[in-house]
Amino acid sequence: MLKITINGEPFFVKVAGEGHPLLLVHGFPLSHAMWQPQIENLQRNFRVIVPDLRGCGKSIVTPGKVTMEEYADDLAMLLDALEIEERVTYCGLSMGGYIGWQFIRNHRDRLHSLILCDTRTAADDAIVLSNRHKMAANVLSEGMQQAIKTMLPKLFASQTRTDQPEIVETIRNVMLTSDPEGVAAALMGMAERPDMTDLLPEIDLPTLFVVGEEDLISTIEEMRSMASAVPNAELLEVAQAGHMAPLEQPAVVNAEIQAFLNRHV
Ligand code: MLT
Repeated sequence: MLKITINGEPFFVKVAGEGHPLLLVHGFPLSHAMWQPQIENLQRNFRVIVPDLRGCGKSIVTPGKVTMEEYADDLAMLLDALEIEERVTYCGLSMGGYIGWQFIRNHRDRLHSLILCDTRTAADDAIVLSNRHKMAANVLSEGMQQAIKTMLPKLFASQTRTDQPEIVETIRNVMLTSDPEGVAAALMGMAERPDMTDLLPEIDLPTLFVVGEEDLISTIEEMRSMASAVPNAELLEVAQAGHMAPLEQPAVVNAEIQAFLNRHV
């Protein structure tokens, strides 16, 4: 991991490979580690740039709230610090996708194309909102255990849980080492994120959506509807995968990302 200091704050980022820059933005409450199968495979043909977002992994923790816009600004500054001038392919999963909408809005000139995995444009409804506030209070007072119990069962397809328990354990460990203040700040930021559905018809970049057929958080119906709202977007539906499709079925997802980039780079 490289340590990059931006405005006096430390950020950690994995950079590997050469070629077209592919920025991989992780979900909540995770770190760059969720992209390990993509890092290993895609660095053969691309320059993969895989940060720990603010408050996650080993990067600087900011208590309170971090908005999706602030995460997106961090990423733009990170690209500056790495002197990446070429337009990037932005690939985000779930919260990484929420941040992606803000990156499109505020840093459009940095973008070549988009890959949006297991994510949503809708804002939180009242139930999700209230759960976010409860989870934030709980992680701050009790640590990560309860949040892990709540989140982990929602992340994977049933087959992943039985056939690849090591993946579930890897993600449990990533969550266990997450900083409660960083996790709470992400929850507060997600809670106030706006509905971004109106942005979809305006997207004029090559766009690939990826969804696990068993995703319980960003459902296949919701992602089909998002994909149909973006002009000329492609959609990969991944069998035997849930919310963590790139980690659960890396061979299928990597092959599709490679084919998508071969067509557009
Ligand atoms: C994620 O994977 O980033 C989370 O499920 C996002 C969310 O809680 O909405």
